[in-house]
Amino acid sequence: MSDDLSQVKLPDDDGRVPVRLDVNGRARTLRVHPTQTLLDALREQLRLHGARSGCGVGMCGACTVIIDEQAVSGCLTMAALCDGRQVRTVEGLEARDGTLSPVPEAFLRHRAFQCSYCTSGFVLALEALLAADPEPDEAAVREAFSGHICRCGSYSRIMAAAREVAGIGTALDVAAVETRERA
Ligand code: FES
Ligand code: FES
Repeated sequence: MSDDLSQVKLPDDDGRVPVRLDVNGRARTLRVHPTQTLLDALREQLRLHGARSGCGVGMCGACTVIIDEQAVSGCLTMAALCDGRQVRTVEGLEARDGTLSPVPEAFLRHRAFQCSYCTSGFVLALEALLAADPEPDEAAVREAFSGHICRCGSYSRIMAAAREVAGIGTALDVAAVETRERA
């Protein structure tokens, strides 16, 4: 995303800035306060609640969205700087008929969450990685997940889902994992 502040529009009389976005393939126009984050704009104005507010300082990944194919922290991104950008949120990974794209589908199949607060962040990080590199190795997946925190500790299942959808190694036997976890 451009950091060219000369591109930022000046606020109108009401102190807000018009911002045009493509959000999950749909053109949206917002009026945002110059200091409003993209995370807050998505949640409060567009009612897209998939990206979550966690740390608020770029340290947990819960607020991750994709802007122009790049995973970014919504809590650190000013909405006013996103004029003309393409934004994808986790809601955009579900088709109208309810069909999920392969990444969230794999997370569901592996039950790669408990409370799910972190899930959209991990899913979008992996989506962005696969868009850039359809055959990432495990190190690339771990790098994409760096900075993402799962407070429930579902990391082994998250990595199992990621390995499956990235085609890394052999698919994990979910039943075997559950048996081990119960033991
Ligand atoms: S809320 Fe944005 S990184 Fe934690
Ligand atoms: S599933 Fe609860 S924080 Fe990750």
